[in-house]
Amino acid sequence: MAVPRPRVWVSQPLFDDIVDQLAVHCEVDATAQVTAHAPADVAAHLRTADGALVTLNERIGATELAAAPRLRAIANVGVGYNNLDIPALDAAGVIATNTPDVLTETTADTGFALLMAAARRITESERWLREGQWGQWSFSTMLGNDIHGSTLGILGMGRIGQAIARRGHHGFGMQVLYHNRSRLPEDVERRHGARHVDFDTLLAQADHLVLVLPYSQASHHIIDAAALAKMKPTATLVNIARGGLVDEPALADALANGRLAAAGLDVYEGEPAVRPELLALRNVVLTPHIGSASLATRRAMVQLAVDNLRAALGFGPDAGHPPTPVTAKTTTGKAGIAAITGAGAGNTAAGKRQGTSA
Ligand code: GLV
Repeated sequence: MAVPRPRVWVSQPLFDDIVDQLAVHCEVDATAQVTAHAPADVAAHLRTADGALVTLNERIGATELAAAPRLRAIANVGVGYNNLDIPALDAAGVIATNTPDVLTETTADTGFALLMAAARRITESERWLREGQWGQWSFSTMLGNDIHGSTLGILGMGRIGQAIARRGHHGFGMQVLYHNRSRLPEDVERRHGARHVDFDTLLAQADHLVLVLPYSQASHHIIDAAALAKMKPTATLVNIARGGLVDEPALADALANGRLAAAGLDVYEGEPAVRPELLALRNVVLTPHIGSASLATRRAMVQLAVDNLRAALGFGPDAGHPPTPVTAKTTTGKAGIAAITGAGAGNTAAGKRQGTSA
């Protein structure tokens, strides 16, 4: 009797030519829905699935897992995975994977674009021009703050943080300060022209502060009213990690009252909803979570997620060993593996277990 092929759920249309690779070994349950699935819908799809390819729109925890007896693997298309309850997946013996590395440079580009647009008031200027206000031009119209030669602060110095540091140091002659759970080796610091400082020093000295750290309970609202009060009133804040890092009402208040010059946000606590207080401000550049959104990078992310899912289900060149796992259980063997070994570069160890954007 033929062995039934595993069934995989693909939670939204991705790139058909890449996703079709799954059809060689699996039955593919593809959906045409591009928006977030309701939790009951996620559970309904997972009920009959052996594996799933999901984006940050899908939240998967104990409730969904309890109703998914066949589920063996979740491949997240994204580096951050705070949409997945990793301890619950571990407990259920389900492998989870993410897509680090392939999006590092594109996401760093986005961080820099937001930094420049906010500090130099690019979108605000365009809006003013389109409103027909150019006739009011004066020598002091749209004065912003310099990027070149200024002090760049980076909170969270993982792969993306380091890629931003390189841009700032080598491209713009910036002094780079960073704060991170652990200090980088000296040769890496030297290569990025970066100096490790404590959190308060980072806040106080940065002319432009970029958030690239993982979101977890510990980093929830790490940029709150007290942190904002320690920043220079001329500073720019950029968030390309997760919205929950920032107390958004406190940020809107600081921006509205001249206690912070500008902000660039790609992520929001309640996304896709954006707070009206932020929408009302001119000195904040708002983008809809497009950090990794170049065609080449999004394709590379989907390919890595497909490679991960296929391997986690026991097929393809990496059968049994998905390239970039985030759960302790990383093989399709029967016992869970306590330590991750041989995983994708920089994607190992318990330090990554909380859900990351770096
Ligand atoms: C996007 O936010 C990602 O985590 O890849």
